[in-house]
Formats: sequence, C-alpha cells, structure tokens
Amino acid sequence: MFVASLYNLKGGVGKTASCVNFAYMAAKDGYKTLLWDLDPQGAASFYYKAQPKEKGAAKKLIEHSMTIDEAIMGTDYDGLDIIPADLSARKLDLLLDDKHSKKQLRNLLKGLEHDYDFVFIDCPPGFSHLADNIFYASDAVLMPVIPTTLSVRTYDIVKSYFEEKTGELEKLMCFFTMVDIRKNMHKDVMAQLYKDKRFFEYYVPYLSDIERMGIKNAPVEAFAPSSFAATCYRALWNEIKEGVLE
Ligand SMILES: Nc1ncnc2c1ncn2[C@@H]1O[C@H](COP(=O)(O)OP(=O)(O)OP(=O)(O)O)[C@@H](O)[C@H]1O
Ligand SMILES: [Mg+2]
Repeated sequence: MFVASLYNLKGGVGKTASCVNFAYMAAKDGYKTLLWDLDPQGAASFYYKAQPKEKGAAKKLIEHSMTIDEAIMGTDYDGLDIIPADLSARKLDLLLDDKHSKKQLRNLLKGLEHDYDFVFIDCPPGFSHLADNIFYASDAVLMPVIPTTLSVRTYDIVKSYFEEKTGELEKLMCFFTMVDIRKNMHKDVMAQLYKDKRFFEYYVPYLSDIERMGIKNAPVEAFAPSSFAATCYRALWNEIKEGVLE
C-alpha cells in the first residue's frame, strides 16, 4: 500500500483537484484505491458525491469509537473507495494534539494494508499536528505549486520544514499547477524551481475543464476523457506513478 498526500501550506493551489484526479486515474489503472478526505471543507467528497454515513466520523475514528473500515464507502467508480470528510474533521488538530503523537493516522491506516494499493489523502492547508500526522503516514507528500513568487517562498518554508523537522525531505515531491505558460513570471519561476530536482516535468495548466469538475461532480477524465485537461493530468499521473513506484 502506497500512501500519497496532496499537501501545501498554501490554500487554493489545486490540492483537491489533483487528489480527485489522481485517485480516479490510479483506480482506472487497476489499483485498489482509497481517497481519504481530511479537509473539513469536504471538497473531494463533494466531487465524488459522497456523504459520511455517520456524523462526527473523523472524531470517532481518532477516538477509536469507529473503525476505519466502517468509515469507508464506495464511489461511482470501480476500484475507488472514499472516506468522506465531515465537520468534525475541523477538530482533528486538537484531538491529535491531545494524544501528542504523530503516529496515529499511520496506525489507523495499518489496518488497510492488504485492502488497497494506493491511498490518497486530501489535506487542508497549513502546518498543524494533523499535517505532522499526515507527513508521518505518507510515503510521498505531493505538493502542487502555482509558479508565482509567493509560492516560491512557501515552497522554501515547506522544504526547510521537511529538512529540519521531519528529516524526510525525500518524501516531498512537487508539481506545478494552474500554469499560464504565456506569463513570463510562470516560466521564470518554473525554470528556477526545476533546478531543485524536486519537481515532476509534467504540469497542469490553468484550464476551464478543471474548474468544470465542480459542475459535473466528477474527475476530469470521467466527463471529458479526450480534453487537454485530462491529457495533462494523465501525463503527470503517469510520471508520478513511475516516480513513486520505481
Ligand atoms: N489547473 C486548474 N485550472 C483551473 N482551475 C483550477 C485548476 N486547479 C484547480 N482549479 C480551481 O481552483 C480552485 C482551487 O482548487 P482546489 O480546490 O483544488 O485547491 P486546494 O488547494 O484544494 O484549495 P484548499 O486549500 O481550499 O483546499 C477550485 O475552484 C478549482 O476548481
Ligand atoms: Mg482542497
């Protein structure tokens, strides 16, 4: 089982869009796949039309009054399951802090080791105990980056955090999203950051078909399989898959 979290300290950079599309494509490739929505905004759950079975599921999971199996639901797609987010996920940080351990999420996932090939975690933005738990549980932390000056600053902060606090910089793997290749700033920032060797070559441009996921309630390859958006996400996913499974 390979655990990949979609993370950035920054909000609104394409974490959820990427998580939803990668999970769909992994399942389509024949991997048994689980998407765990850990963001109380519940956007990934919304794209998959998934509502939690019980109120307070995230809290109950951490408190062990519910098992992870009980929280899992099917989606409209073969081979793809989801743990939808609920509002109690907003308390995860406090609940995890109470127990002073960054190992709790990994321990919960251990029970699924033989059930899934890929687990994708959609993270809320920010540094928190939840983020520390997610980093520890993840084999790869996939970070979407919009190529702007401010994003370079955020990237440097996250990179230092991985170097100094977790000591697992090799887990941090990045890719560019919402790219407008006509903009010199985007081209310059990409050229600068590619030198760092933490970025995948393929990237996701700014495309309206990706915004339409919210109208279609589906991953882009499901409703527009021959679109440029689907082609870009597919190329990037193939590169990531090869990169992480090598
Ligand atoms: N490549 C893209 N092209 C155009 N629009 C995009 C692209 N990626 C994401 N979007 C849109 O940008 C908005 C933010 O994307 P998304 O929700 O994936 O970001 P996020 O990092 O998960 O945000 P948050 O930090 O709030 O969880 C959404 O409306 C989404 O549809
Ligand atoms: Mg999100």
